[in-house]
Amino acid sequence: MSSFSQYPDPDYTVVHLSDTHFLADRRPQFGSVDTDRGLRRALDRLRGELGRADLVVVTGDVADLGEPDAYDRVAELIEPAAADLGAELLWVMGNHDERPAFSARLHGRASDEPQDRVITVGGLRVVALDSTVPGYHHGELTDGQLDWLRGVLAEPAPDGTVLALHHPPLPTRVKLMGLVELRAAERLAEAIRGSDVRAILAGHLHYSTFGTFAGVPVSVAAASCYTIDPLPGGREFVGVDAAHAFNLVDVFADRVVHAVVPIDSAPPVTHNSAEFIARLEAMSPTERDAAFSRKATVAPRPD
Ligand SMILES: [Fe+2]
Ligand SMILES: [Fe+2]
Repeated sequence: MSSFSQYPDPDYTVVHLSDTHFLADRRPQFGSVDTDRGLRRALDRLRGELGRADLVVVTGDVADLGEPDAYDRVAELIEPAAADLGAELLWVMGNHDERPAFSARLHGRASDEPQDRVITVGGLRVVALDSTVPGYHHGELTDGQLDWLRGVLAEPAPDGTVLALHHPPLPTRVKLMGLVELRAAERLAEAIRGSDVRAILAGHLHYSTFGTFAGVPVSVAAASCYTIDPLPGGREFVGVDAAHAFNLVDVFADRVVHAVVPIDSAPPVTHNSAEFIARLEAMSPTERDAAFSRKATVAPRPD
């Protein structure tokens, strides 16, 4: 297909899923949320509409209570989907996960240790950092983990580094979530400042939010299970079974671009046909301007 844009195709496309929160035996979360449905729908969209990707990252809370059956079921859905996309797969621990069951199923060996990982996809380095504290929901990084991270980042990667961790190093509008945020975040800032980290991917908040940390863009993916409404500005914590989403992360030589993709389907209200797009492709840039960019109708002047 000829390009309509001044920008090249991305060097890497990363699928960023988060917070699947499966329970054993397909029990519904809170007695009502069908956690499998959102994830299945997301993977169906990726298979049918994206087709290929370089990496799938799951930023934690894979299981709601750390049950082995929950890890089995999530993995049985995501592993073949990643294979169909031709993508590597990287799992990140969340506070609802339990290290022994998580590592046994997803990393091939049961362990109580922090589940930190580094993989390379072409020239892109991707680091999974385990921000969990056993027995608690808030996040912390140990001195040992930060030393390890500094060591990993000591040598730049050809296309830079993406850092993935569950607890985002950002403030949140949901006041209660402040109690379970990444504590002492400045220690992570010291570890990555001046490094080749180009993007930070996180979860935990169950709504899409973006910011910067130590000069690095941070993107938080919403959940595939339920969404926390960030607007009730008081002290409430409101979860809704709606607005499920995942993110697509396009990595270019000089920028990283995040897109929030809705999981839930809705009837289209407008679309352009494949025939129209084929006609556009056959046109010169000037003809395309006339056919697509030029306003078909002009609003009356306000005077
Ligand atoms: Fe979560
Ligand atoms: Fe979480």
